[in-house]
Amino acid sequence: GSGKFFVGGNWKCNGTKDSISKLVSDLNSAQLESDVDVVVAPPFLYIDQVKNSLTDRIEVSAQNCWTGKGGAFTGEIRAHYYAMIRYKLSSLLHAVGFTDFVTVTDGIRLLSKNLLAQTDSSVEQVKDLGCKWVILGHSERRHIIGENDEFIGKKAAYALSQGVGVIACIGELLQEREAGKTFDVCFQQLKAFAGSWDNVVVAYEPVWAIGTGKVATPEQAQEVHVAVRDWLTKNVSAEVASKTRIIYGGSVNGSNSSDLAKKEDIDGFLVGGASLKGPEFATIVNSVT
Ligand code: G3H
Repeated sequence: GSGKFFVGGNWKCNGTKDSISKLVSDLNSAQLESDVDVVVAPPFLYIDQVKNSLTDRIEVSAQNCWTGKGGAFTGEIRAHYYAMIRYKLSSLLHAVGFTDFVTVTDGIRLLSKNLLAQTDSSVEQVKDLGCKWVILGHSERRHIIGENDEFIGKKAAYALSQGVGVIACIGELLQEREAGKTFDVCFQQLKAFAGSWDNVVVAYEPVWAIGTGKVATPEQAQEVHVAVRDWLTKNVSAEVASKTRIIYGGSVNGSNSSDLAKKEDIDGFLVGGASLKGPEFATIVNSVT
């Protein structure tokens, strides 16, 4: 593996003040292996509560951020509502040139879906709350909300420029895997994170494994992690390839994590459902080999 083992808990849009207070107290009392970076990503509305009650041993991440600064955007957690719409209109205008059919469909998808569901927050606010990390490119934002590579790439570049680390998620859909396109899809998504790689952790999360209970086998995950590392060697540098943590996400739990962790190129996990249970999350953290 590369560097320190890294385990993130992505709480997604789950929890109440009470359930989060219980989870934090379980995490505070858990015995965690010292040689592991441990990070949790609460919903935006509870970040402050978590930051104020969680042990400093565990870092906090946002689940998303915007591409720039805040401003006059009443009622929005995230900033730059109008800038976002301009961004989408410009991608539509670009599409009108018929240069690229994918851009047309992506533009329309973004325009319709992103108006309905936004949870972006400015990176400055994320930092102000004490977050060291932000998750970007999660498959739920790509495939439910409609974020594309270009949009995700802008967010990542801005977050990194502000000193916030990026948990950069990539991963193929089942039909892409079945069509033999897993590597192509992952490389395409990786390319969008181009720029500084110093503060990036890559999370490989096959979409078919997320929230389904169908965890990738250690061999399936290892195969993609090796390909990602090779891609980094060829497209960034050997140094970045050897030091970048590549973590796996998708139905990781307290029973399957140690077999996955044994694989050479699996440097940790991004855990969804099982991160909502403190003791089980601690078991996953402690599966470092
Ligand atoms: O970010 C975490 C992943 O989406 C995995 O979620 O562990 O519930 O499958 P899951």
